[in-house]
Amino acid sequence: MSITAISVAAYIVASLLFILSLAGLSKHETSKSGLTYGIVGMGIALLATIALVIDKVLKPELDLTWLPVALMAGAIVIGALIGFWRARIVEMTGMPELIALLHSFVGLAAVLIGWNGAIEGFHADGVNPADVRALTNIHEAEIAIGIFIGAVTLTGSIVANRKLSGKMKSAPLMLPGKNLINVGSIVVFIVLTAVYVSRDTHGDNTSMILLGVITALALFLGWHLVASIGGGDMPVVISMLNSYSGWAAAASGFLLSNDLLIVTGALVGSSGAYLSYIMCKAMNRSFISVIAGGFGIEAGPADDTDYGEHREVNAEQVAELLTGAKSVVITPGYGMAVAQAQYGVAELTSELRKKGVEVRFGIHPVAGRLPGHMNVLLAEAKVPYDIVLEMDEINDDFPETDVVLVIGANDTVNPAASEDPGSPIAGMPVLTVWEAENVIVFKRSMAAGYAGVQNPLFFRDNSAMLFGDAKDRVQDILAAMH
Ligand code: TAP
Repeated sequence: MSITAISVAAYIVASLLFILSLAGLSKHETSKSGLTYGIVGMGIALLATIALVIDKVLKPELDLTWLPVALMAGAIVIGALIGFWRARIVEMTGMPELIALLHSFVGLAAVLIGWNGAIEGFHADGVNPADVRALTNIHEAEIAIGIFIGAVTLTGSIVANRKLSGKMKSAPLMLPGKNLINVGSIVVFIVLTAVYVSRDTHGDNTSMILLGVITALALFLGWHLVASIGGGDMPVVISMLNSYSGWAAAASGFLLSNDLLIVTGALVGSSGAYLSYIMCKAMNRSFISVIAGGFGIEAGPADDTDYGEHREVNAEQVAELLTGAKSVVITPGYGMAVAQAQYGVAELTSELRKKGVEVRFGIHPVAGRLPGHMNVLLAEAKVPYDIVLEMDEINDDFPETDVVLVIGANDTVNPAASEDPGSPIAGMPVLTVWEAENVIVFKRSMAAGYAGVQNPLFFRDNSAMLFGDAKDRVQDILAAMH
């Protein structure tokens, strides 16, 4: 059997492993095996690709040098070392920005592959002369579309990385006529691509200039689409960029005639699109509006409402309140992850349960910075699964709850989402903590949450602020209880 045939078979096995991986990752219990399938699939795909290149070099009639193999080996070693190092040092809170950065690499690769295809031109050897024209047109359409999707993914992911790492403000950019800019850019892309593909001459200066304009336009559109989306919608943006990176890879697969890239790209593209759709439904957002860069959302007036004074409590007062309570609900958020307060929270939970207090957790679907972030932290600290409830399971119970501890959460407990139609997070389902008898908010200051929206919860009569690092304050409460 030839190396090419073995590699094609290996590609099929790798594709099947990727499908199994996706299926495994869809449930907590099977997620580890899902990851293993993905790693094995990627290992097989890499080996098969290396074997294909070596096979070509070994063919005397092609008269190739070993340079491509050396370059590929060098790239794999450098890439693997950097990837290994980054993955080892990344904090859990830094995962989404790392993922956004990785998506930008897929976009960059698609742009480079597209340009390479344009410079090399269409290889017409062995093609029926009558078909050359049509096949060249298809090749050029693949180039333009691949570069467009890749460039949008590249700059969109860079903006997402900067917004998630706090290097760029998370509030949406509101350029005048932003919807027109987005729709106009897509129309101009279609027209330029039609001109690029239908020209009689290929690969000349005019073709390259057209492709250069398409690339610049797509780079601008990617930046503008993501910059126009507010912090509250960032979870959807990340999964949307994940989907775009898949389509960019699939487009590269068509250009390189690589079936595995087409299959894998389509898997990533469609699963990312479906995840974006589910997230939009969970957050009561319009899917079309979010993928079109906040289409239809206009800037509301700045929130200068005077919510009055907030009340402060200390750890001893909270300890007293908790020991006198019958039911306590803890709603963690991003601040718990930053403070690494989950171990103290788990200890507090077990102390209270020993005293006969019913303690449960209410988890918002986008609390923290990545799907399932809070569940992972609580599982790490060995909080029993059965007391960790989803938002829909706990929301009806708040009116009967004595004390809610809001530990480093903000946007996910903001009443403005359900009460203020003009709020940037209006319509997003939130944990209705304010319906409880007492709400204690753990945070370091009165600063707004990720979406940059003030939270009226902090000024309610039944709310009190416990300022400071969440981990320290939880330890103080434990000390006071002892
Ligand atoms: P956020 O709205 O991000 O608020 C976190 C709060 O934690 C802040 O108000 C901050 O206030 C406080 N905090 C930070 N460090 C702290 C520390 N060491 N000790 C105590 N408090 C600390 O949190 P959330 O309610 O979890 O909402 C998540 C937000 O992120 C949503 O807007 C969501 O859309 C967005 N987002 C989510 C995801 C996913 S997939 N989950 C991905 C990207 C974005 P101080 O600075 O005053 O302490």
